[in-house]
Amino acid sequence: MQTEELSKWRSDTRAFWDTDSAFDAKYGRILLSPEMEAAPNEAALDAEWDRRTVEDVKMLLRGIPIAPEWTCVEIGCGIGRLLKPIALRCRKVIGIDISERMVGFAGDFLAAVDNAEVHLNDGTSLSMIADESVDWVYSHLAFQHITAYEVVDCYLAEIARVLKPGGYCRIQNWHEAPIPFVERVKNIARACLGREHYHGPRRWEWKPGRNVRFGGVTYHPKDWKRALADHGLRVVSLELGAGHDYWMWTTSRR
Ligand SMILES: C[S@@+](CC[C@H](N)C(=O)[O-])C[C@H]1O[C@@H](n2cnc3c(N)ncnc32)[C@H](O)[C@@H]1O
Repeated sequence: MQTEELSKWRSDTRAFWDTDSAFDAKYGRILLSPEMEAAPNEAALDAEWDRRTVEDVKMLLRGIPIAPEWTCVEIGCGIGRLLKPIALRCRKVIGIDISERMVGFAGDFLAAVDNAEVHLNDGTSLSMIADESVDWVYSHLAFQHITAYEVVDCYLAEIARVLKPGGYCRIQNWHEAPIPFVERVKNIARACLGREHYHGPRRWEWKPGRNVRFGGVTYHPKDWKRALADHGLRVVSLELGAGHDYWMWTTSRR
């Protein structure tokens, strides 16, 4: 993207994520509409939010040998839902987000967490982080919303730059491949039990004059592996359909 286009993409993306209230930043941007509607009060929303968070942290840590001396980075941290539990397991955790309002809400949410810091970024870079200083970069529920392949590519280059040799990267994004049968059955069972809403993939690419929406760019696993490899990130595991039919979880190492 040319500079002018990139700056339009950035302001459109910020406008989409700059939520008006802490309530919306916390629940509205994490829980699905049926879950929001089903909850009779904020305590019930909180319980659902906590349940989702426990599940998500489990997925996030799958295959990651997190250690007390580690420095970890989350791209697209929102209010810091995942930073908080990860901070308990490492020396320092750094959250990065494109939305000024999300970063503001994160400041409140993480006020008592001494080893967490949150930075506003330009939506494409980790410029506040030194080369080869990070043990683990992770991202959940953020790459699925990135609306330009170029932006994903910028982040992969930045992840490779900040990771120590051998450092870990774990990203959840959206894939374009058919869902493995077992995961499809699990997802349908979850939907029948009223536990999760059930969607198909929905790719959305930003272009000048086109709004930012909920969806983002998607990858065929083959292309995704190639994109990681192009930046020196070696894939250790790739799971399709775990958690949701359109999710792809990939762990790679520098
Ligand atoms: C659905 S929220 C998820 C927050 C957090 N990862 C969690 O799971 O609780 C998505 C977050 O990604 C951020 N985001 C979207 N695009 C981004 C980008 N290009 N760079 C940095 N943050 C981005 C949004 O501002 C928002 O806070």
